[in-house]
Amino acid sequence: MTNSRLTCMAAGAVVALMLSGCGAGNAVDGTQGENVLRLALNQSEDHPSYVALEGFAEFLDESEEDLSLDVYPNEVLGAQAEVMQLVGEGVVDMAVVSGAQLENVNDDFIAFNVPRVFDDVDHQMDVVQDPAITGDLYSSLESSNGFTVLGGLTQGTRSIYTSFGAVETPEDMAGAKLRVQESDLNIAVADALGASATPMSFGELYTGLQAGVVDAAENNEVSYFTQSHYEVAPHWSMTEHLIGLDYVLINAERFDEMTDAQREVFLDGWELAWQEHTDLWAEETEEAIEAAKEDGAEFHEVDHEAFAEPLDAVAEDFITTDTQRELYEAAREEAP
Ligand code: GCU
Repeated sequence: MTNSRLTCMAAGAVVALMLSGCGAGNAVDGTQGENVLRLALNQSEDHPSYVALEGFAEFLDESEEDLSLDVYPNEVLGAQAEVMQLVGEGVVDMAVVSGAQLENVNDDFIAFNVPRVFDDVDHQMDVVQDPAITGDLYSSLESSNGFTVLGGLTQGTRSIYTSFGAVETPEDMAGAKLRVQESDLNIAVADALGASATPMSFGELYTGLQAGVVDAAENNEVSYFTQSHYEVAPHWSMTEHLIGLDYVLINAERFDEMTDAQREVFLDGWELAWQEHTDLWAEETEEAIEAAKEDGAEFHEVDHEAFAEPLDAVAEDFITTDTQRELYEAAREEAP
């Protein structure tokens, strides 16, 4: 057994104890555990994902069905790689994880992770909500990994930010250690951006930047602000190299066991949460930019031409199988 598997099992045991309230199957809020869905999120309470998912929880509470949702923010149930496994095992019921994590268990997900697959957030949201495109993909991990994908939430457009200064071309990133999400594609993206990749979990990043373990990271403006990363990396450069995508996962058995009435309410609540998140995104992005600037962050333009060729090459290198090509092309056909 590998060390990481052991660590995951230990993490799973700790989370199981936390969630059981150390009692006889009762949820932490004192209600019977059976109909409480526990969702793991790595964002803070002021992030649109938390706000929209709390709306989902309220919707379930107001319904007649005996079904509720508890959202655990700030990575308290574990980093995304661990919670994805815990959802499969049924220790945690639901989680929000980045497409980067899903590509590690099914490389078909790469089709929606590469640079340039989506023109903008609206295009991305049209694709991820279209069951004709995503149906097989979303159910692909049910028997092998124990979870199903409910749908996608945008991460918005990702750009570089550094502790050392503006980035105009890939040359400005030479020698810089860029934190990336843990996947091969993200390592290749770092390379295309001119940097040397350091994969690391999201929750470790603030201290990683502060301690100089990494000199730079890449994300959307909302996470940049809500995680306070601007305090330790105040130079934002608008590379806009990717439109990122999060997915909402649910343990497959838990989903199957719902009564028809519960499933209907649950899917209505999810639809509302998705809509709220999508509506909030543009507004929150503007607010995050203004707030980060007020707190001293500097936003810089980049030479987009200089990044174009290396980023295009990433998609060419990573879209290699028939399924990836079909998904990629189906997404491109929906482009505005
Ligand atoms: C975004 C995304 C997260 C992801 C994070 C990261 O904030 O919404 O799901 O974990 O990027 O870079 O790790």
